[in-house]
Amino acid sequence: MASEDPDKKRLDEIPAHAKAAAPEIQDYRSVSIEEARKLDAGARHYRAYVGSPKAYDVTAATQFALMVALGLREDHTLLDIGCGSLCGGRLFIPYLLPGGYFGIEPQAWLVEDGIKLEVGEELRSLKRPAFLYVDDFSLTAFGVRFDFMLAQSVLTHVSQAQLDRCLSQAKLALNPEGLFAASFFSNGRDTYSGDDWIYPGFAPYPVKSVVERARRHGLTGYPLIWRNGYDHYWMVFAHEAHAGRVSWLGELSGEQRMLRILELAKELDDLRVKYAKTKGNLKEADLELSKLRGDKRHLDDPS
Ligand SMILES: C[S@@+](CC[C@H](N)C(=O)[O-])C[C@H]1O[C@@H](n2cnc3c(N)ncnc32)[C@H](O)[C@@H]1O
Repeated sequence: MASEDPDKKRLDEIPAHAKAAAPEIQDYRSVSIEEARKLDAGARHYRAYVGSPKAYDVTAATQFALMVALGLREDHTLLDIGCGSLCGGRLFIPYLLPGGYFGIEPQAWLVEDGIKLEVGEELRSLKRPAFLYVDDFSLTAFGVRFDFMLAQSVLTHVSQAQLDRCLSQAKLALNPEGLFAASFFSNGRDTYSGDDWIYPGFAPYPVKSVVERARRHGLTGYPLIWRNGYDHYWMVFAHEAHAGRVSWLGELSGEQRMLRILELAKELDDLRVKYAKTKGNLKEADLELSKLRGDKRHLDDPS
């Protein structure tokens, strides 16, 4: 019976390029989650290949919280572009009604491990997520107009040609009243000019250039004050005719202001870490002191 399941069939029909042992790097697929937390981002383990393995929990939570804040509800359809090992998918799949979750990902092994180790076959059968293993941003290939689309840490690595392809496909695949949220990287200056996907390094695109590019493809884009733990910034896009759905964000859209807010938030995080460390050191010093005092009392008291 399993072979009649259309989604299982999709998993079985993985194109050759996606089946090929992906990157020529050491394979850590079988190590435990605990061991994987020690790996560098980009290592061949489903939690490390897609980013910092230590941040796998928070990365899922921040993208889920963002989409829900933007209005994602259980009866919507969501396209997760570059869904990887279902870091976000493992929260979206149970949340959405059956048939609501769609993922595009060139590396089939990531989806396979995500299903096997995070989602489980039972939930897969119940919620019927659909996957497509392509690397050409064929967002229209599902034949669905999506209520929401998401690209978390994907457009942070693309060439200009890939970015254009993604935006032009997004315009076609997005429900006219839908929203598309994507994270980007900017250093406030440079625009990536390479021809290739760059990974695990980042391809910088200033907010202004993304807004202009999106406009050329009929999308209105605004930056969001939202973090994902990687110092990326978020953009949300809507069809130009429905720009009202996102234009209220214009108030917050000054790039320098937004980057400064992200910097300040990071400084605050660093200060929290320093504070916790200092507090720990103080506690240790206190303990040491009371031990010394105790020892002294012990020496003073011959009984
Ligand atoms: C940094 S990971 C992020 C994965 C996932 N979005 C997450 O939040 O964990 C980038 C993902 O984009 C995928 N990717 C690479 N090239 C792509 C392409 N052309 N189209 C879609 N996804 C792509 C990678 O295989 C990888 O899974």
